[in-house]
Amino acid sequence: MPLQPQGTVATSFVADLQVTLVRKVAEGGMGSLYEAVLHGPQGFEKTVALKTIVERFSQDEHFVELFIGEAKLVADLVHQNICQVYQLGRVGQRYFIAMEFISGVNLRQFLRRHAETGRSLPPELAVFITSRICRGLEYAHSKRDKNGLLLGVVHRDVGPHNVMVSTEGEVKLTDFGVAKARTQTAELQDEQVRVGKAEYMSPEQVRLETTDARSDLFSVGAVMFELLTGQRLFTADTARQARAKVLEREIPRPRSLNPTISEGVEEVLLRTLQRDPAARYQTAGELGTDLEYQIYHQGYGPTIVTLEKHMRGLFPELFVPAGRRRAPSKPATLIIDSVAGRAERSDVTARTVVERKGQG
Ligand SMILES: Nc1ncnc2c1ncn2[C@@H]1O[C@H](COP(=O)(O)OP(=O)(O)OP(=O)(O)O)[C@@H](O)[C@H]1O
Ligand SMILES: [Mg+2]
Repeated sequence: MPLQPQGTVATSFVADLQVTLVRKVAEGGMGSLYEAVLHGPQGFEKTVALKTIVERFSQDEHFVELFIGEAKLVADLVHQNICQVYQLGRVGQRYFIAMEFISGVNLRQFLRRHAETGRSLPPELAVFITSRICRGLEYAHSKRDKNGLLLGVVHRDVGPHNVMVSTEGEVKLTDFGVAKARTQTAELQDEQVRVGKAEYMSPEQVRLETTDARSDLFSVGAVMFELLTGQRLFTADTARQARAKVLEREIPRPRSLNPTISEGVEEVLLRTLQRDPAARYQTAGELGTDLEYQIYHQGYGPTIVTLEKHMRGLFPELFVPAGRRRAPSKPATLIIDSVAGRAERSDVTARTVVERKGQG
């Protein structure tokens, strides 16, 4: 029996989306990332992250086609280790993505804070974080459509900037479905890939060959290497240099840089960093299981509570009660007809986004 008597709820309707931008979190490669609030009736509010795509990309037909194609593909990825996307919309000429807001830091900030404070990251926590990335990837790589066909989702931009650690000790991979459009858009091909990204590419990505899920695993290896040793695997000043190193630089033995790494963990890491995809782990699930074996086979190992405690020591400022934090600047409100993808007040709303650029 249907929950609602027939005829009382329309099966299709347009609902406006009202959004308040609270503060700009960061300026990314494709636009800005805001903390925002979605409003509903009678004071309902939900905090979200809103990523705006700069107009330059939003107006590039090829980019938009790929971007929307990928967004549709990943719309239903729901997993504890993946930042969930809620909505793809458009304000005037600009696309935006509303997604789960993660209160925490990305792995780049996480690593930097260790270097600045001289705190060490215990190897078992580095392995724990990597294992969580693997579980998110395993889920996405094996996602099938309604007819049971493999979607073939590959992240393509796994790196410290796209992995977040929350104040709850959760690990979340962000930006699924974003990299393909960017890397396949002529303007951003090859030379323009930023150095911070090229350092985490797989050899097959560098050679512009077809990539599959195993490419993400090489990138996971580069992130894991850095978490375990505190050193970037392929440091470079330019993207060209980084690409050359991805192809050729001899991979140092992790234990020569950090003797507290176990032989077992080193073995797993070196297998992840095999340049030949056939010699690597073949699935994120296998790698995740081997990593979990390394941290749990003696009966006890880290959990999200261990990571949360580590975060507390590392970023005390993130654990200050909300009421005692600095008040954000006056928020701007957007009213977006997200379902139809039109801006109801596109002139105002698009301008609001632009005006707030550079603030906060
Ligand atoms: N869902 C989110 N919730 C909270 N903060 C986020 C979220 N997603 C990303 N961030 C933060 O915002 C920063 C900018 O993200 P963004 O994806 O725009 O740029 P990026 O990851 O640095 O580079 P790129 O655009 O190439 O992915 C991230 O590095 C991260 O610190
Ligand atoms: Mg990102």
